[in-house]
Amino acid sequence: MTVRLGDIAPDFTADTTDGTIHFHEWLGGSWGILFSHPKDFTPVCTTELGAFAKAKPEFDKRNAKLIGLSVDSVESHQAWKGDIAETQGQALNFPIIGDEDRKVADLYDMIHPNANDTLTVRSVFIIGPDKKIKLTLTYPASTGRNVAEVLRVLDSLQLTADYQVSTPVDWRDGDDVIIAPAIPDDEAKQKFPKGFTTLKPYLRLTPQPNK
Ligand code: BEZ
Repeated sequence: MTVRLGDIAPDFTADTTDGTIHFHEWLGGSWGILFSHPKDFTPVCTTELGAFAKAKPEFDKRNAKLIGLSVDSVESHQAWKGDIAETQGQALNFPIIGDEDRKVADLYDMIHPNANDTLTVRSVFIIGPDKKIKLTLTYPASTGRNVAEVLRVLDSLQLTADYQVSTPVDWRDGDDVIIAPAIPDDEAKQKFPKGFTTLKPYLRLTPQPNK
């Protein structure tokens, strides 16, 4: 199944390292980061899981829950946890789905047969509190993800959900943002009292409104 931006995130029930979860119920009113890794006891995955676990306080601050997945068993994940803690200096602190029957992997199209016909690619889905898909990322097995980038886009998604702005290239939390072109100048003056700079009629920059 193809999962696209704006779709409702497919719901499922799955066994995880923290017990059985019903996905939508587990998400509650939080944002969610559902991400797959190809295989337990492999080098890049070990570094990624450690890095996401280290960054969990940052995801908590943003009201975002992390959940991992591979087509290994929960027992395998449990056995692997020790290696993550030992080599990455950080114990796992969020659930990993044991998706041996590939039910969730298939629901989210995480197996790309022309890359590998049995293992999941490195997918990331960011899901909003409305349960809609806000962002998808796909990396190959050979390339570990960048946790700072996941946090950066989460900041952008949360900001742009609340304000009529968008974020420019390489934007980071605290940088100026772009006023939606559909807002006329007189309305923009009311909505963005910190003022704005007009580079072009369609390119107006304003200080980040929630700072
Ligand atoms: C890794 O995590 O290093 C990895 C996993 C599966 C295939 C290739 C690399």
